[in-house]
Amino acid sequence: MNSFKDKVIIVTGASEGIGRALAIALAPLGCQLVISARNQQRLASLASELTILGLPPLVCAADLAQQSQCKNLIETCIARFGRLDILINNAGMTMWSRFDELTDLSVLSQIMQVNYLAPAYLSHAAIPHLKQTQGQIVAVASITGMTGVPARSGYAASKHAVIGFFDSLRIELSDDNVAVTVICPDFVVTQTHKRALDSQGLPLGTTPMQESKIMTADRCAQLMLPAIAQRKRLLITSFRGRIGRFLKIIAPGLIDKITRNAIASGR
Ligand SMILES: NC(=O)c1ccc[n+]([C@@H]2O[C@H](COP(=O)([O-])OP(=O)(O)OC[C@H]3O[C@@H](n4cnc5c(N)ncnc54)[C@H](OP(=O)(O)O)[C@@H]3O)[C@@H](O)[C@H]2O)c1
Repeated sequence: MNSFKDKVIIVTGASEGIGRALAIALAPLGCQLVISARNQQRLASLASELTILGLPPLVCAADLAQQSQCKNLIETCIARFGRLDILINNAGMTMWSRFDELTDLSVLSQIMQVNYLAPAYLSHAAIPHLKQTQGQIVAVASITGMTGVPARSGYAASKHAVIGFFDSLRIELSDDNVAVTVICPDFVVTQTHKRALDSQGLPLGTTPMQESKIMTADRCAQLMLPAIAQRKRLLITSFRGRIGRFLKIIAPGLIDKITRNAIASGR
């Protein structure tokens, strides 16, 4: 894991869940973290934890649904450290509603803004700096970016967009030796399920997941670290996700059935 030593790393969505677990896993490895999210209180509490584990992080609160705040996050990092090695696009949000029951269609644009456009805007501002360091962009997508998922149509669309975008960027940036790593987690125990927007665009408030049966955020972070260190192109965190990619080509109806069951059972 020495490959993270002295690297300047931005983690978006660091106040909760996978981003928080990833920051905690990275901190002891000698890197300089820049942590971002909207909730300043949670960022401050994470900053105290990280300072015990490693270097004090730079805290940069930002609402990434605002294009100007995406640019500002990168500029703040460069102003402070003069470089950027790894941009981890992790912040995200989801939904939990059949599309034909959705009464607030702004759910679709909100999700697209945070999950797809923000990583694109952040990457645009970061690329000149990443070319200088021959750095890396990490996109936390989802296995929902690889197949259709009921109750999550707008989320699936945003994660398909993320994968298509970053797969394209990888080719464009290969001559500059800037790596692009796409991470596709399966279900993880985090706040995202409670915060999922329902048919009226309001947070669900309770999780539909069987939390004891799905991966923890710490475990997800532990799987992500070597994939990032090795500058892998893709990490899929579950066996069903890995096998599902190939099954989808030969038996797409079976994948639809597996996905329907996963959502119905919350695991
Ligand atoms: N959990 C899963 O089952 C799962 C599975 C596959 C993929 N993923 C992906 O993993 C990533 C992390 O999700 P998670 O499960 O850890 O979710 P989470 O616990 O809800 O955390 C989401 C993070 O994103 C931040 N965020 C949300 N909207 C934002 C905005 N407008 N501006 C800035 N930050 C924002 C949140 O911070 P603030 O609220 O403080 O802004 C929070 O730190 C997401 O991209 C998600 O789609 C999750």
